[in-house]
Amino acid sequence: MIKGKLVQLRPVQRSDISYFLQWFNDPDVTQYLLMYLPMTEMVEQKFIEELGTIRAATSAFFVIEVEDAEKTKAIGTIGLNGINAKDHNATFGIAIGDKKYWSKGYGTEAAALIIKYGFEQLNLHRIDSGALSFNDRSIRMHLKLGFREEGRRRELIFRNGAYYDEVMFGLLREDWKKPKKL
Ligand SMILES: CC(C)(COP(=O)(O)OP(=O)(O)OC[C@H]1O[C@@H](n2cnc3c(N)ncnc32)[C@H](O)[C@@H]1OP(=O)(O)O)[C@@H](O)C(=O)NCCC(=O)NCCS
Repeated sequence: MIKGKLVQLRPVQRSDISYFLQWFNDPDVTQYLLMYLPMTEMVEQKFIEELGTIRAATSAFFVIEVEDAEKTKAIGTIGLNGINAKDHNATFGIAIGDKKYWSKGYGTEAAALIIKYGFEQLNLHRIDSGALSFNDRSIRMHLKLGFREEGRRRELIFRNGAYYDEVMFGLLREDWKKPKKL
């Protein structure tokens, strides 16, 4: 468990499947992600199984929780994936799946917590990430955390009749704006 002021990050459990099915079948959420096919229970079961087996040594994947009306509420997922023990890098991903909780600072704090974990506990040297070019919220979040834009995968994805770029980001340990209070 990783605790911040606004959010906490906890490991995934099997019962999270019901949240994942809601979040990753919501087009308002998936428009910002690379996934686009209907998310099935079978795919989510396999994903969770893999976190405990073939991805156990290469993924630090968490559910984001907040306290709301004195109840702990799961609102999304966050992870460092493809952890590379030789080159000391990993790929960051986040989705607040419950859109009621967007734009309240939760995403930025959750990301800051996992980045701190990545540099201080996993001994990473670099964190990769990306955001679709129309995802203003995500782009602002990345820049605020110290990520630098390193290029664009041009016209990578097709949404509603048009192609859009993916903005590629990288964060080196030396660029990291280590938060004073977390
Ligand atoms: C992207 C995401 C993680 C951001 O988390 P969040 O909690 O919603 O965002 P925050 O409240 O931390 O705000 C991040 C920045 O976006 C800005 N922002 C908030 N709402 C915004 C909006 N509607 N348009 C543009 N910027 C916005 C905030 O002001 C803040 O920047 P600032 O501090 O410089 O002002 C979250 O919205 C999300 O998961 N969205 C759906 C899935 C997704 O996009 N995942 C990321 C894929 S790369």
